[in-house]
Amino acid sequence: MMPTLAFQRLLDCAQADRPVAAIVLGSGMGRVAERLRAVQAVPFVEVPGLQATSVQGHHGQVSLGDWAGRRVLLFEGRLHYYECQSWRTVAAPLQTAQFLGTRVLLLTNAAGGIHDALLPGRLMLVRDHIEWNRPYCWQGLMRGEVRPSPYSPRLRQLFYDAGLTLGLRLHEGVYAAVTGPCYETPAEIRALRAWGADAVGMSTAREVQLAHDAGLECAAVSLITNRAAGLSDGPIHHGEVLTNAAAQAERLADLLEGVLRRLG
Ligand code: HPA
Repeated sequence: MMPTLAFQRLLDCAQADRPVAAIVLGSGMGRVAERLRAVQAVPFVEVPGLQATSVQGHHGQVSLGDWAGRRVLLFEGRLHYYECQSWRTVAAPLQTAQFLGTRVLLLTNAAGGIHDALLPGRLMLVRDHIEWNRPYCWQGLMRGEVRPSPYSPRLRQLFYDAGLTLGLRLHEGVYAAVTGPCYETPAEIRALRAWGADAVGMSTAREVQLAHDAGLECAAVSLITNRAAGLSDGPIHHGEVLTNAAAQAERLADLLEGVLRRLG
């Protein structure tokens, strides 16, 4: 695909002033983007490798601009495996970020809380993940090596410090990635809990693993929007996820801003 004029302008701006970080916003977190003073914005469909988002609560635009005195690339929404059926497309934003010169990737997501402390509204800093999505693509590493957590200890420390300044003690935990799009059964959540998962969601793990393997430094934070299936009364609705995510968008934006200020 030939780059559109808008994407070419984004590329030129990024080349002139390289973004220090790329941020991916999860479901319902669109208001976080208000913190960015954008100099260029391009819809996903105009970015090579990306496609329009079909999920409510994802704006589907990538913006380049300034936030906390830093040049930042912001993905307003993401593509999920369940909407595009292609891990290559899911990974395209991080490849774009790398192509535009970014070395740091900060992901956010909406997630269901499994750990007892992870009630709606809380933020979880991802320490590691469980990703058993198919096809399992890490065969190249199956020669006896232990695969380290792809979440950067340095960035986790920056999140932790930024949280403390805001009076937020971030819960660190393990994110379990499922493909969705439907929510889990209570039995699946009991199984995930037994495996050591603290929260569950439909994104992030594959993006982080691929980005880490490609040499990017990664961190992710989960915004807990609901108790996972079977851990509270009643069914889970996407509307509830969006409402709770939007309610915490300011706090998440403060946290990301604190991290950006601390980035060297
Ligand atoms: N399960 C999976 N994905 C989610 C959830 C959940 O409970 N909440 C938000 N995203």
